[in-house]
Amino acid sequence: MSEAAKTENLVEIKHLKEYFNVNVGFFKSRPLKAVDDVSFSIKKGETLGLVGESGCGKTTVGRTILNLYKPTAGEIWYDGKLIKTDADIKEFRKKATMVFQDPYSSLNPRMTVSDIIGEPLDIHNLYNTKEERRERILELMGYVGLNSEHASRYAHEFSGGQRQRIGIARSLAVNPEFIVCDEPVSALDVSIQAQVINMFDELQDKLGLTYLFIAHDLLVVRHISDRIAVMYLGKLVELADANEIYDHPIHPYSKSLLSSVPVPDPKIARANKRIILSGDIPSPLNAPSGCPFRTRCPHATPECAESMPELKELSSRHFVACHHPENIA
Ligand SMILES: Nc1ncnc2c1ncn2[C@@H]1O[C@H](COP(=O)(O)OP(=O)(O)O)[C@@H](O)[C@H]1O
Ligand code: SF4
Ligand SMILES: [Mg+2]
Repeated sequence: MSEAAKTENLVEIKHLKEYFNVNVGFFKSRPLKAVDDVSFSIKKGETLGLVGESGCGKTTVGRTILNLYKPTAGEIWYDGKLIKTDADIKEFRKKATMVFQDPYSSLNPRMTVSDIIGEPLDIHNLYNTKEERRERILELMGYVGLNSEHASRYAHEFSGGQRQRIGIARSLAVNPEFIVCDEPVSALDVSIQAQVINMFDELQDKLGLTYLFIAHDLLVVRHISDRIAVMYLGKLVELADANEIYDHPIHPYSKSLLSSVPVPDPKIARANKRIILSGDIPSPLNAPSGCPFRTRCPHATPECAESMPELKELSSRHFVACHHPENIA
């Protein structure tokens, strides 16, 4: 989609929170703040990449946006409308869907490809005749590079990459406008990751889709994303255009994520010295006070323990949540 067309927000989340009550002993439970006051928007036709270490809350953001989890607090707006009532959610589900991380467990191995892809058509009554259903399934298979001979075969007969294609075709069955792609290539061989990502890119152009594209690896999202948001312990710490965040990361956490990306050119790799973080990512049940990153941050000051830094626009379209961005070389 052209830049000019990407002006309207399709998805907007405001101060989204998702707390899970977890047991921490006999009859005792505490809220686990999986997503804690996250706000961002995605324009029509845009891809927002969402990255961060395992457990930082990426999947929960995706599932909560789609109302697969009821938000603890905050608002989800879609196409200018607040999603609030059950009727809103039902309507929204026809337009927004998810592609899952694991193509091995997300498809029933004993169903045929045709039945897997046809199931959402059945659930939402999206055809009038059997022939129409068959044609639509074949069309969806064509979108993801599967051919008609695959229709009667079982999911377990396929490789990981092909299974992910089946999963994507299934997600496309309802004719969605917005797709949460939850680490859709993480479980695949590196050799086929690029093919599947290119397919997402082509489908976006062909069908005018908007993506929230989740990954833990910045390299994976760089080329497909227009903008990238970095999450740490349930919070957004940096948000900027993809090239900007890649070339000029500001938050110390984003810097460390980027410095662990392998660079093929040894000269660049040497200049890009590796930042190894000390300590493990804390549990969201015992998140540090103030800045969530302070227990691992080489620039932390006493102020960092006192208050959570707001996400501020430091340069055009580049937002960072840090008290001391000027100290970070
Ligand atoms: N249904 C759930 N119940 C309780 N805790 C959960 C649930 N889902 C996720 N969590 C916790 O929320 C945090 C964020 O998880 P998740 O969103 O899956 O992270 P990511 O996708 O970034 O790996 C983790 O600490 C995880 O253990
Ligand atoms: S607010 Fe403080 S602890 Fe957090 S990233 Fe910035 S300097 Fe580090
Ligand atoms: Mg996840």
